[in-house]
Amino acid sequence: MAVSVPVYDEVTLETLWADPYPTYARLRAEAPVAWVDAANIHLVTRFDDIMRIERDPETFPALDTRSLQVRAMGHTMMRRDGADHLRQRRAVEATFLPQVVAAHWGPLFEAIADDLIGGLKGGRADLFAEFAAPLASRSLMALLGLPQIDWRDLCLWSQALMDATGNYGDDSATWARGKAAFDAIDAAIAERVPVVQARPDPSALSSMLHGGLPMEEIRANTKVIVGGGLNEPRDATCSAVLGLLTHPGQLAQVQADPTLWKTVFEETVRWIAPIGLYPRRVARQVEIGGAVLEAGDAVGLSVASACHDESRFEGPERFDINRAKGKHLAFGAGPHFCLGAWMARRLVGEIALPRLFARLPGLRLDPDAPPEVGGWVFRGPVRLPVLWDA
Ligand code: HEM
Repeated sequence: MAVSVPVYDEVTLETLWADPYPTYARLRAEAPVAWVDAANIHLVTRFDDIMRIERDPETFPALDTRSLQVRAMGHTMMRRDGADHLRQRRAVEATFLPQVVAAHWGPLFEAIADDLIGGLKGGRADLFAEFAAPLASRSLMALLGLPQIDWRDLCLWSQALMDATGNYGDDSATWARGKAAFDAIDAAIAERVPVVQARPDPSALSSMLHGGLPMEEIRANTKVIVGGGLNEPRDATCSAVLGLLTHPGQLAQVQADPTLWKTVFEETVRWIAPIGLYPRRVARQVEIGGAVLEAGDAVGLSVASACHDESRFEGPERFDINRAKGKHLAFGAGPHFCLGAWMARRLVGEIALPRLFARLPGLRLDPDAPPEVGGWVFRGPVRLPVLWDA
C-alpha cells in the first residue's frame, strides 16, 4: 500500500557532499522516494523509478516556474517540455551530432589536449587545475562559438551560473556573481553575433542563430551550455584518472587494448556521476516507489544513486571496466538526455585520457598530496596532484 513520503531529517548537506553513496544505499533499501529535509526535496534513488519518471514527462515535467535556473540563466531548453523543448533542442542539435563531433570538433580538441599536455613540465602537476579545467573550458569556448573570451573567465562564469542555480539559501552575493556572469556572457554573445551572422560555422551560436531562435532563447541556451558543459567533462577526466591510478591492473589492461578507453569513460561516469541529481516537478497526484507524491511537489532524480543501484550493477561502488555491460543514467534519460554526451565521450574518453597516459610515463598519484573528491549535486575530484617520470 502506498504511504505518505518518509521524512529523512538527519541527512545533512555536509554528509552528502563528503560521500552521498552510503546515504543513497540506505534510501534505496528503506525509502526509495524520501523527503530529505536538508535538500528541501523528495529524492528518488532507484534506477527503475527514475526511468519511469523520465518516460512520463506529462506527469513529471521539467518546467518549473519557481526554478532557480530560470532566474540564473533565463528560460532554457532544460526547463521546457514537449514541442517547445524540441524546437529549441533541434535548433542547436547540429553542433552536437556524433559525425560533427568526430569530423569538426575532434581535431580541434586534439590540438587543445596536445598543447596542454605539452605545457606540463617537471613531473608534477595538479591535473584538475592544470589540465582538466583548461581542457574543458577551451573546448567549450570553441563549441559555443565564443573563441574570443579567456578560458579562465569561462570557468568563473560557469561556476557562478551553477552556484546561482543552486542558491536555495538566497544568498545575495551568489546572485550578484551570477548576474555578473549572465551579463558578461550576453556581452560576449553580442560581440560574436555579427561575425557568425556573416559566416556560419558549426558552433552552437551559429546553429541557433541560423536555426531561427530569437535572441532571448539563444542567450538562455548559451548559458545552459556554459553551466552544463564545462564542469562535467572536467570532472569525468579527473575521476577517470583517479579510477585508473587506483586500479593499476585495469590501467594495464586498457594500455594493452586501446579499444577499452570508451569503456573506461562509461564506467567512470557510472562510478562517479558528474551530475548527481536534477529536478522534475509533479503535475498530478501519483504513486511511486511505494509513496504518494502530490501535484506541485519537487522531486530530485538522483542519477548518481541509480548508477549504484545494486539491482542493476553488481558491487556498484567498485570501479570496474570489466563489469557486465548495462545502461547507466549518468547522462539522464528521455527528452532531456544530455545533448553534449558525444562531445564528452570524444573529448574525455577518446582524446584526453589516451593522450595523457601515453605522454606522461609512470603517471601516479602524489603520495604526499592525496586527491580530494567532493560534491553530490555535482561530484568529482576537486584536486588531483600527480607525479610522472619527467
Ligand atoms: C561527462 C559529461 C556530462 C554529463 C555526465 C552530463 C550529464 C547531463 C545530464 C544528467 C543531463 C540531464 C539534465 C536534466 O534532464 O535536467 C544533461 C543535459 C544536458 N547537457 Fe550534459 N552532461 C555532460 C556533458 C555535457 C556537455 C559537454 C555539454 C555541452 C557542451 C552538455 C550539455 C547539455 C545540455 C544542453 C543539456 C540539456 C538537454 C535538454 O534539456 O534537452 N552536457 N547532461
